[in-house]
Amino acid sequence: MTIGIDKIGFATSQYALNMADLAQARGADPAKFNEGLLLDALSITPITEDIITLGASAADSILTEEDCQTIDMVIVATESGVDQSKAAAVTIHHLLNIQPFARAIEMKEACYSATAALDYARLHIEKNPDSRVLVIASDIAKYGIETAGESTQGAGSLALLVSANPRILELDDNRVAQTRDIWDFWRPNYSETPYVNGMYSTKQYLDTLKTTWEEFQRRYQVTLEDFAAFCFHIPFPKLALKGLNKLITKDLNPDHKEKLLAQFDHSIAYSRQIGNIYTGSLYLGLLSLMENSHDLQGGDKIGFFSYGSGAVCEIFQGTLVDGFRDQLQSSRLDQFSQRQALSVAEYEALFYEQAQLDGQGNATFPAFKTGAFALTNINQHQRMYQKVADND
Ligand code: CAA
Repeated sequence: MTIGIDKIGFATSQYALNMADLAQARGADPAKFNEGLLLDALSITPITEDIITLGASAADSILTEEDCQTIDMVIVATESGVDQSKAAAVTIHHLLNIQPFARAIEMKEACYSATAALDYARLHIEKNPDSRVLVIASDIAKYGIETAGESTQGAGSLALLVSANPRILELDDNRVAQTRDIWDFWRPNYSETPYVNGMYSTKQYLDTLKTTWEEFQRRYQVTLEDFAAFCFHIPFPKLALKGLNKLITKDLNPDHKEKLLAQFDHSIAYSRQIGNIYTGSLYLGLLSLMENSHDLQGGDKIGFFSYGSGAVCEIFQGTLVDGFRDQLQSSRLDQFSQRQALSVAEYEALFYEQAQLDGQGNATFPAFKTGAFALTNINQHQRMYQKVADND
């Protein structure tokens, strides 16, 4: 029996900030963002869109009623959760009408936890072959106005339906994780935005990649030539490119190097338009690769580098299934270009708006464009959501 990703859905916001506009407002050279970070635009959410609406919308785009009757576990991986106690997965389970006898939990370790969730799903299905697990990676990356990380914000959610005999990607057994207790990026409970040692975080990303890859190769006797493509956690695409270049050695066949670099460009096509989506960014890279590359085929091995600050990383691998394209859309780049472009002043107001609660913990919000679900109001500190018929 093989186990892996059977369906994959994606949702992002209906608003975007173009990097050229941000550069102008911040007095930066636009090339610093477009070429230095390899970013063109960032997804920006209004107050009525959060990790729950994004996650529910991503899942809603792929699930059938039959799926909702057979899913027995919902895991939401996030580092921008909306409640310290109640798991976002519980609300999403309700919004999607998933059958009641299911487990619903939230997992956290910065940008890494969706990878742990995926492995938990795999192990669960090994014991329960008829089960289907919904893994959702959902985040809104907010660093603060005029911070160093402002140019690497973003918002989006990936929904991965994990099952036996998957139609997209089989997850292989080979995997190596590494944990390091470091302070490269963290967010205390009292802070809306993270504390970041930016340059240190990039060094840790690259060093954990290098050392984990060495261990992965040692344990499984593989080389880069065994992989048709490599997907990376993408805090911003330029760092992922540095990651790939770390793995490429002088003795790598030049044709294979060229192929890996071409596939890499496909894997960052979506992130260039969306920005960082923390837990989902590795899987957005996979989706982008599969929907934009035309020369991958069933049986091709894909390598993955997952990284979460703090830090935990993991290298693992999967195998594309024959006919995987039948489960995907064609490139979504046109859809992304239809997001409403915001001025910098509009972005600052929209992205950083805070709920104004009255004495009883109630708040209402104006109608903004969202995906298939919206946060409608807060009622006595309880967040209320609704399916949106039409988001125009
Ligand atoms: N034309 C072209 N390129 C230019 C340029 C210009 N005019 N001006 C600058 N650049 C290039 C720089 O040379 C640099 O590229 P190289 O690294 O290849 O030399 C690039 O643009 C970035 O410029 P800076 O080095 O000046 O850095 P910055 O001010 O943009 O800050 C950062 C970079 C510190 C990473 C910042 O974006 C940040 O703090 N981001 C948040 C933290 C982060 O993403 N860390 C990643 C690892 S942690 C992680 O992975 C978890 C997570 O998701 C957060």
